[in-house]
Amino acid sequence: MRRARLLVGLVGWLTLPACGDSGGGGTPTVDAGARDPYFGEAEWAQIATLSPLPDVPDDPTNRVAKDAAAARLGQSLFFDKRIQAQPLQIGKTTVDPTLSPAPSPNPTALGEAGDLGKVACASCHEPGHWHSDFHSMPRNLSLAIKYAFRNDPALVNAVFYEELGWAGTADRLWTFITSTPEGPVGGTRAGLVHVLSDHYKSAYEAIFGALPAGVASWPAQARPKLSAAEKPTTVTQPWIDAWSTLSADDQNAINTAYANACKAIAAYVAKLASRNAPFDKYVAGQHDAISTAAKRGLGLFIGKANCVACHAGPFFTDQKYHAIGVAQTGDNVPAADTGRFAVLTNYAAGVPLFSGAGAYSDDVNAGMARLVAKGLASPAPTPSDDDKGKFRTKSLRQIAETSPYMHDGVLADLPAVVDFYDQGGGDVANKDPLMKKLGLTAQEKSDLVEFLKTLTGDPIAADLTADTSAP
Ligand code: HEC
Ligand code: HEC
Repeated sequence: MRRARLLVGLVGWLTLPACGDSGGGGTPTVDAGARDPYFGEAEWAQIATLSPLPDVPDDPTNRVAKDAAAARLGQSLFFDKRIQAQPLQIGKTTVDPTLSPAPSPNPTALGEAGDLGKVACASCHEPGHWHSDFHSMPRNLSLAIKYAFRNDPALVNAVFYEELGWAGTADRLWTFITSTPEGPVGGTRAGLVHVLSDHYKSAYEAIFGALPAGVASWPAQARPKLSAAEKPTTVTQPWIDAWSTLSADDQNAINTAYANACKAIAAYVAKLASRNAPFDKYVAGQHDAISTAAKRGLGLFIGKANCVACHAGPFFTDQKYHAIGVAQTGDNVPAADTGRFAVLTNYAAGVPLFSGAGAYSDDVNAGMARLVAKGLASPAPTPSDDDKGKFRTKSLRQIAETSPYMHDGVLADLPAVVDFYDQGGGDVANKDPLMKKLGLTAQEKSDLVEFLKTLTGDPIAADLTADTSAP
């Protein structure tokens, strides 16, 4: 309440930094005198919690999370197409003849069926496009080797998320990334270590120490089964067989180097923070940084439309999971996606190998404390039907740049998103009680969209968008 009083005046002397404000998180850093009188005291108390973005958080489980050399290595790996070991299944004009039912070719594919050397992280997380997918058409699901089962999220500002993935699959940026070279990039952990040894040896060793002596003797590709549900193919079965013939020491050495590579990639992704959106400038005192329509939209966002109930804080997300009833429809979209339920089911089976609390973490205790605090370990979670179809509240920063929307890209543009919320969301039994019909007028809908457009910050610096993969 003390804070509310501080926000009252348009008086310049109230510039004392955050004085008397020690009680609250998200402490506003702007003096009250800078605030646009368009909004009243109670509204400013809300608005001030939405800006600015804080410093990039530390991650004790990744000792190179803020290491510049690691970020440079990570950037190179982010662009390296040699990690891909699985041939494209869907090409511009051809498809893998063994697929049944045969999908259609897609002219926006990365090459022809059977091609190698076409897929890197950057293929789907495209630099210059907020590190999200702009090539796949339709853009609801990303197409690399095959279609991803979800929409490709922008990696800009992903470093701020408490958990990663639409349903919070992983507890940390680097631990999420461990699923990607072997997932959408179609590589293997042994193959990635060979790429490190063949092309990045000195850069890697300067950061992490010597690569294991055994590298040359390891199979070109090897990895364990990725999940109990994985159905190996004629391409992947030999990799799984090769992994099972490796000694426990070799497996550990490969896992260590693989985790290190993913920590380096995470250090790169951590650099992709974008600040200074018009909205941030507005909150900082530049009253004309956003239009009057956007101000009306902001008023709705924190008022009648109550988006802020979930899209809270400077990341515009409560970092929690809600069922809002997004339909599983659209080209190639799977008929069902249980979202958070599947994630909790995984944790119920035990702490994942690559997690902040796993064997390759740089601070197992900190990692475990975090999992316990989130209800993901000790005791293990007990997923229920109520968790089905829950997804993480998505950040809204640079939202105007990353259509289509939702985990399966089912909503084409921001007006469609606003219509979805105006109708009270979709039709699911466990719908969040915060989802209510809003009764917005056409003007209000367009104002809300104008506000969302003010959340795009500075573009990512050119040196962070360049392909630096080794020749
Ligand atoms: C098919 C294209 C594709 C490729 C290639 C790809 N990704 Fe992704 N990425 C996705 C999709 C789809 C998701 C959402 C997955 C989910 O929510 O389960 C995702 C999610 C992510 C996230 C989580 C972001 C968030 O908002 O929570 C990170 C981090 C990430 N990818 C990094 C990478 C890295 C690093 C690579 C390369 C090693 C990579 N990705 C390769 C499609 C791709
Ligand atoms: C009950 C919590 C809740 C409320 C209230 C809410 N949202 Fe969301 N929002 C979510 C969740 C959860 C998702 C991700 C859902 C998914 O992908 O299935 C999301 C996704 C979005 C997305 C898509 C993000 C992306 O990257 O694709 C936009 C845009 C959005 N919300 C805007 C709004 C606006 C505008 C309002 C107010 C009219 C609002 N939200 C109210 C929880 C909420």
